[in-house]
Amino acid sequence: MSAGTEVTTTWVAVCPAEQIVPETGVCALVEGEQVAVFRLADGSVWALGNLDPFSGASVMARGIVGDRAGVPVVASPVYKQCFDLRTGACLDDPSVALPAHRTEVVEGVVLVAAQEGMAT
Ligand code: FES
Repeated sequence: MSAGTEVTTTWVAVCPAEQIVPETGVCALVEGEQVAVFRLADGSVWALGNLDPFSGASVMARGIVGDRAGVPVVASPVYKQCFDLRTGACLDDPSVALPAHRTEVVEGVVLVAAQEGMAT
């Protein structure tokens, strides 16, 4: 960490948003990291690390997308832990979280921010 270093965001184009079936995820390689990118029925796009911390398998993109008490979540396809799509936090185990990436859709293309060390 060096003081005064500006954080620059690297945006990686993943795919056209319409190629992600609503309420499902796809896996993308973002600066060498596997990222699970989800598109919800409302058109919002979310990106979390693809590695399931509980099973150690890179499977989060195949998780089940849903809603828990108003929180958009994805459940791991292995042991079914739920993670907040907005923050990556595990809802049942606050000590565990997936890395969360910022996303944007620009001219129909999904962009995912590479990890910056500091999440907003
Ligand atoms: S185990 Fe269900 S929310 Fe984390």
